[in-house]
Amino acid sequence: MSNTHNLFAACSTVNECLKLRDELNNSGEIAEIKKQLATATSEEKKLFGKKMNELQQEIRKVCDEQIQRIQQEQEKDNFLPYDPTFSSSNYKKVQQGNLHPITQITKELVSIFSDFGFDVADGPLVENQWFNFTALNTPDYHPARQMQDTFFLKNVDENGEKLVMRTQTSGVQIRYGSTHKPPFRIICPGTVYRNEDMDATHDINFHQMEGLVVDKNISLAHLATLLEQVFTKLYKTAITVRMRPSYFPFVNPGVEVDISNPFQHDASSKLYGQEWIEVLGAGLVHPTVITNMGLDPNEWQGLAFGFGIDRMVQLKFKISGITQFYNGHLEFLQGGE
Ligand code: PHE
Repeated sequence: MSNTHNLFAACSTVNECLKLRDELNNSGEIAEIKKQLATATSEEKKLFGKKMNELQQEIRKVCDEQIQRIQQEQEKDNFLPYDPTFSSSNYKKVQQGNLHPITQITKELVSIFSDFGFDVADGPLVENQWFNFTALNTPDYHPARQMQDTFFLKNVDENGEKLVMRTQTSGVQIRYGSTHKPPFRIICPGTVYRNEDMDATHDINFHQMEGLVVDKNISLAHLATLLEQVFTKLYKTAITVRMRPSYFPFVNPGVEVDISNPFQHDASSKLYGQEWIEVLGAGLVHPTVITNMGLDPNEWQGLAFGFGIDRMVQLKFKISGITQFYNGHLEFLQGGE
């Protein structure tokens, strides 16, 4: 059979291979067998048939291997090397994609907070009322439930309470706090939903970045310093914060935080001339909330804050309305208005 191999190895085209296969199938031992078949007994025919089959299969196998080799060689030859004289201007310019501005700022904030030792915590978009309100010191009768225009679902949880589209990512803090040992620092970025009338500055969903630090001897000074440093990194210019007393059921004291306007002297900005910008709600975690995490409020304190990522995007990219966020216009997605 090595003779068969040599014969096929000498073929350089598929046709040559097929021709050789036909020749071999009608010559030598096979031709001999065919001749004898005419006069053979039926017992002999069986044996001859089997032998002929084996010989033909071997020929087919060697033939196929050579054909495959020839075809592989041809494919190599078909691959033309890169032509260095071919100018790039002959190609149609392909527009490069980029991440959505909201994703860009979220990623940037996650990276900044992680420099301060924060982990990212995630939670469900469809939340039960315990995590969205009750555990956050906002029971049924509490007027603060009306502050957030909630979407209620028909579906109920195991206590028969309607599920809600989460109105804030604060619920994630309870989920995390009940399953992790302090001290810890987390941020919870994510989409939240409120039943708003839509206009240039309101939509039924937006993106929040809430943060929680649980540790010992936590004070508002930690909060102010942390936020100043985070916003200084985000806007790449020295930012100071100002706190005004406010009310959120899950913190005490609660504050509204303004940051010094990074665009105060930028004539192209809609915020030109304005000294402060209101950006977030924050405070020291209410002892009831610490208790609802299964922790002892005498041992552990916390600070919490929450702000809209969309607002940060508006500020950073100088966008006045939020209607462009979902319209898919390339100019906007690439950072312009
Ligand atoms: N969860 C609040 C909101 O959505 C923001 C906030 C978070 C306020 C933490 C204080 C402390 O409005």
